Amino acid sequence: MSRRKLVAGNWKMHGLRGQLAEIAKIDAAAAAAPGVDVALCVPATLVHPASEIARSVQIGGQDVHANDRGAHTGCVSAEMLVEAGATIVIVGHSERRADQNETSHDAWAKAAAARRHGLNVILCCGETEAERDAGRAERVVQAQIEKSVPEGASGDWFTLAYEPRWAIGTGRTPSPDEIAQVHAIARAKLRQMVGDAADGIRILYGGSVTGANAAAILSIDDVDGALVGGASLTADKFVPIIEAAA
Ligand code: G3P
Repeated sequence: MSRRKLVAGNWKMHGLRGQLAEIAKIDAAAAAAPGVDVALCVPATLVHPASEIARSVQIGGQDVHANDRGAHTGCVSAEMLVEAGATIVIVGHSERRADQNETSHDAWAKAAAARRHGLNVILCCGETEAERDAGRAERVVQAQIEKSVPEGASGDWFTLAYEPRWAIGTGRTPSPDEIAQVHAIARAKLRQMVGDAADGIRILYGGSVTGANAAAILSIDDVDGALVGGASLTADKFVPIIEAAA
């Protein structure tokens, strides 16, 4: 089945108003690549101003609370993201799993909250280097999917991102065969969980994607796009990745 590619940037804890000019340039490149979906998940403080600029790029958050409201100091709800102009959100990123001890169950609850309020979801999974070295990468990813993919997930709102933790920000990537193998296993697991709807769900690869390796990575079977960190921060680095997906 052919799925439109999605190129999503994750700005992590980078970005002040001064960087909004990059969003305008990225938006122009997205408008010139109508065959590709483009998203930018910016810090919560930039969601609103970014959404006022973007016309062809979906603007998103990088996390969301599982509850709709309450005494949760410092947290942002799905409804707040929507009101600020977000249409998409990342959940279960490995940096939140590592820094905030988030579990796959947390990612599941956050994805469900996002869905309740009409946000599209990018749910992340991926093994550590030790898990890969121990030959456990596929089992780890299967278990994460099993515990975190919400009921009724379908491609019109749900995207999975495979991000091996050891490839994030390191300049190292798995081989094309290794990526293909995990993506195939992830799709099979999704099929077990949601049946034929699995065919419509995009599976992105993330981890050290750049303009130099994007075309090769995006041509791997079952790779339906990329989740990009460092190379999404400026238009000169991100636009070539969008163009590689077009
Ligand atoms: O979510 C994207 C990410 O974790 C990959 O980061 O900097 O390796 O592209 P980077």
